[in-house]
Amino acid sequence: MTSLGVVTGGAGGIGKAIVRRLASDGFHVAIVDRDREQLESLATQLRSQGIRNFETHVCDLTSGDELDDLVGRWTEVAALVNNAGLFDESGLLNLVPDDFRRMYELNLIAVAELTRRVAPLMPHGGKIVNIASRAYLGARNHAHYVAAKAALVGYTRASAIELAAQGILVNAVAPGLVDTPMLRALSPERLQAQLALQPTGEAGRPEDIANAVSFLAAPKMSFITGQVLLVDGGKSLGGLGAG
Ligand SMILES: NC(=O)c1ccc[n+]([C@@H]2O[C@H](COP(=O)([O-])OP(=O)(O)OC[C@H]3O[C@@H](n4cnc5c(N)ncnc54)[C@H](O)[C@@H]3O)[C@@H](O)[C@H]2O)c1
Repeated sequence: MTSLGVVTGGAGGIGKAIVRRLASDGFHVAIVDRDREQLESLATQLRSQGIRNFETHVCDLTSGDELDDLVGRWTEVAALVNNAGLFDESGLLNLVPDDFRRMYELNLIAVAELTRRVAPLMPHGGKIVNIASRAYLGARNHAHYVAAKAALVGYTRASAIELAAQGILVNAVAPGLVDTPMLRALSPERLQAQLALQPTGEAGRPEDIANAVSFLAAPKMSFITGQVLLVDGGKSLGGLGAG
């Protein structure tokens, strides 16, 4: 039987690349997204390329009822990639409580709520990969996003400890700037300034993130849990100048 791999936000910029990669790795991929139009367009593209080992689900991950319906369709899940995320830009002193609530609702609570439902369906050797962000280390003008992704890293480490007893390995991938629609939330000036801080000088490709996810979700991957794999062109190495 083909193993089921679930990818949330699978119709988005990075999600699509993860979907393609896990499908080529041999998973039957459940693509979950709230955007019906993007899901349908991705399904059409995949079929036209001869890729058939997938299913699509329209689901708002912030709705408990929709999560119950979604997970109720599956009996076993080999890999869960919590990729759906929300991002925007705002100065620290302009942020109000609802900004933080929106960020936490998808970037943390939806991950916890899906994990809570899916982990009991995972066999020994199951894999969970949470897509965090290099920004969890700190970034200007995104305190709500930074805080939510740092919380996701904390949740990843705690889940790794508690789910180890079931043989489930939980890790995070922390992308740096990746060329996707999400980046359009940054002003052009900010984008250029950000790229200048990256040793490689360019944004990553969604496929770079998918490669890391493929490694961490692979059936043969073992003994690595609770880790954060930074896939960021070296940005997290710090300043580029001397001193
Ligand atoms: N693009 C980057 O540079 C970058 C950098 C670091 C981290 N990330 C992280 O990578 C992940 C994917 O980012 P992306 O650039 O592909 O974003 P994206 O906006 O292109 O895709 C996000 C997808 O999630 C879906 N989604 C949003 N809210 C949802 C909900 N409530 N229920 C179901 N689906 C929902 C959207 O419809 C969309 O298809 C996110 O977690 C993001 O924080 C991205």
